[in-house]
Amino acid sequence: MGEPDKDLLAAGERIFERRWQILKSVPSLEFLPPADRPEIAFAGRSNVGKSSLLNALVRQGGLARTSNTPGRTQELNYFLADGDPLYLVDMPGYGYAKAPVDKVAAWGELVIDYLRGRPTLARVFLLIDARHGLKPTDEQIAAILDDAAVTYQVVLTKADKIKPHELDAVAAATSKALMKHPAAFPEIIRTSSQKGEGIDELRATIAGIVAERS
Ligand code: GTP
Ligand code: MG
Repeated sequence: MGEPDKDLLAAGERIFERRWQILKSVPSLEFLPPADRPEIAFAGRSNVGKSSLLNALVRQGGLARTSNTPGRTQELNYFLADGDPLYLVDMPGYGYAKAPVDKVAAWGELVIDYLRGRPTLARVFLLIDARHGLKPTDEQIAAILDDAAVTYQVVLTKADKIKPHELDAVAAATSKALMKHPAAFPEIIRTSSQKGEGIDELRATIAGIVAERS
């Protein structure tokens, strides 16, 4: 995993030193904001750490609501910084309520329609708990994203909870599994929202996506 270049790191800093605010919570597609700038969404199983990662990126602990209770985030939550050229979207988690594997539909038609139909969706970060790796439900979501031709990139979360060699093993297994997925971005980002690991790299990655689209 190479270090991101200095210009992108600096650009990432600039995006995230702004003051971010919640723009709106979207319970159904008719309430989506205008598709007038690139957006980046955070997807993943319930409790994987989506809201925590967003808070770490913007350095505002309480911006996106986090919880020990899986299923906390129920709507598409849009975040925007003053004058900034992108939306960040905190998505509801899937795989909650012990749903059988074939019940990913319970994740919500909202989310699936959103992933399929949002023209400005530049990348989805697919968050995977570093302790668990890719689960069948994650593979199903990955297949939906492949189908929709939405580029997605895996972010391993909670890296602080396992040993470095275990993290290497999960990252390697995940990379291998992703080779079967045409829309998956090959590089994996390892993060800990709690310890700050990988957050600069994620900021730089987001800056790169914005630069490509502008
Ligand atoms: P839903 O909205 O329910 O889908 O959950 P979520 O994916 O937004 O997860 P959330 O950010 O609410 O975090 C779930 C739990 O994991 C919370 O108790 C967090 O404190 C914890 N957590 C999140 N990120 C980290 C991390 O990097 N390290 C550790 N140790 N715990 C974390
Ligand atoms: Mg959440």
